[in-house]
Amino acid sequence: MTVAGPTFDLVVAANGLPVERVLDASGEGTWEPSPGGLVSAMESVMEGRKAAWVGWAGESGRAPEPFHQGDLYLRPVGLTSAEIAEYYEGFSNDTLWPIYHDVIVPASFHRNWWNTYRTVNHRFAQVIAEVAAPGATVWVHDYQLQLVPAMLRAIRPDLRIGWFNHIPFPPVELFAQLPWRRALVEGVLGADFLGFQRTADAANFLRVCRRLLGMSTKGDTVTFTPPGDDPARRTVRASALPISVDFQGLSALAATPAVIARAAEIRASLGAPEILLLGVDRLDYTKGIRQRLKAYEELLRDKAIAPPEVTLMQVALPNRERVDAYRFLREEVERTVGRINGEYSVLGSPAIHYLHRSYPREEMAAMFVAADIMLVTPLRDGMNLVAKEYVTCRNDLGGALVLSEFTGAWHELHQAFICNPHDIEGVKLTIMRAINAPEDERRRRMKAMRKRVADNDVQRWSSLYLDSLASAPLKPHRRSRVSDKELREAERANRANLRASDRAAERIGG
Ligand code: G6P
Repeated sequence: MTVAGPTFDLVVAANGLPVERVLDASGEGTWEPSPGGLVSAMESVMEGRKAAWVGWAGESGRAPEPFHQGDLYLRPVGLTSAEIAEYYEGFSNDTLWPIYHDVIVPASFHRNWWNTYRTVNHRFAQVIAEVAAPGATVWVHDYQLQLVPAMLRAIRPDLRIGWFNHIPFPPVELFAQLPWRRALVEGVLGADFLGFQRTADAANFLRVCRRLLGMSTKGDTVTFTPPGDDPARRTVRASALPISVDFQGLSALAATPAVIARAAEIRASLGAPEILLLGVDRLDYTKGIRQRLKAYEELLRDKAIAPPEVTLMQVALPNRERVDAYRFLREEVERTVGRINGEYSVLGSPAIHYLHRSYPREEMAAMFVAADIMLVTPLRDGMNLVAKEYVTCRNDLGGALVLSEFTGAWHELHQAFICNPHDIEGVKLTIMRAINAPEDERRRRMKAMRKRVADNDVQRWSSLYLDSLASAPLKPHRRSRVSDKELREAERANRANLRASDRAAERIGG
């Protein structure tokens, strides 16, 4: 007989727990925060709430015993090593991830991966059903758990279920490639409310429902008859609610004397450059690291910049290393960094400081405070919270953000220095424009971006999300939370920005 464990009114489910076990030199395991935007955003939202978090603990084999972290009850889900290979590395990160990110690398389709994805999603649904109190709210996160909403509804129809997609939702033409497209859509439609990062993602999802599954959509809702025995028609809303950061907490951390002193120390230890460029990314092919390095290398070659006056610090957070595309990327990035350093470093001043490891939050904040130019140049990114973290840390209104127009963050931070990461010439010019911009222009831009993030922080995001979930389903809204008008304004501002960028380019001599 199993002993019933505690139950909760709020349950969060994500592929991973917010912590993962890291072995230190002596072989002792300690729990460290997991990498990625999802965890950094959800952590502050969950702080102080009596809630459960269901997720994989990052190792193969039996799940560790549930444990508490503050008020949060962490309930690990066990995965065998075959399940890790097929559900996590395979279907989630080698099938869905490439399809959802514009097929930057080709996607692999394997029926056994799909079967394992189903099995693991079902296990998650069962574990959630165990820890959810009657009538509880369950917030399911991301592409790894798309079947959970419908599976959970079948076991526990009393629950209120939400799903939020942290990554882009692809255009119908790409999504259509998935042999399991219908099951994936029907899986998420088990939820009462669906959240996406951008209006375009929600629109892509609704288009998929209409075009591929013949469902009827109106405004931001889809109405359909679920498969199975229950003939009742259901209406589900799909809205854009862009995720954010804990503005107050992070800007307060960045303002502490310890972080400010550490920022100065970082600059000193890099040889006190006049201009410090910084990149911080999970080592992922979506992040545009190759293109960024190419642009940087050409600027060195053209003698537009040179160490020791200018240097680049590139932090690459280790991630998904058993997936081939990630392994190949690491090899290529490290070869390129080696070549650039061999060619352009001067004694005591490397052209690139490359760090393949993760850092505690305080150290990241100090890097952000230290950096003059932050390079966020993904080829495709659902949001990119590093961009928002950087502006949050700049209490001094210093620094400048170079931002790819293919990030979710671009839709909000249109005062950044915008670039198209595929356009190497454009990236070079944008970097130079950011370097050469007058201080008052940089401060004006930073101030506007900080206001945007402060007004739309992660606390606001989560309360909007949970309110929408609590009141779902409502009558169709003609507009998502981020209105078309807001989007049009952002796009107008961006066009002006891009024109200014072109004019500056002409002045620089491009
Ligand atoms: C992105 C995804 C998250 C994921 C994170 C880290 O932010 O949206 O779902 O957790 O990357 O990736 P990993 O594979 O290490 O969980």
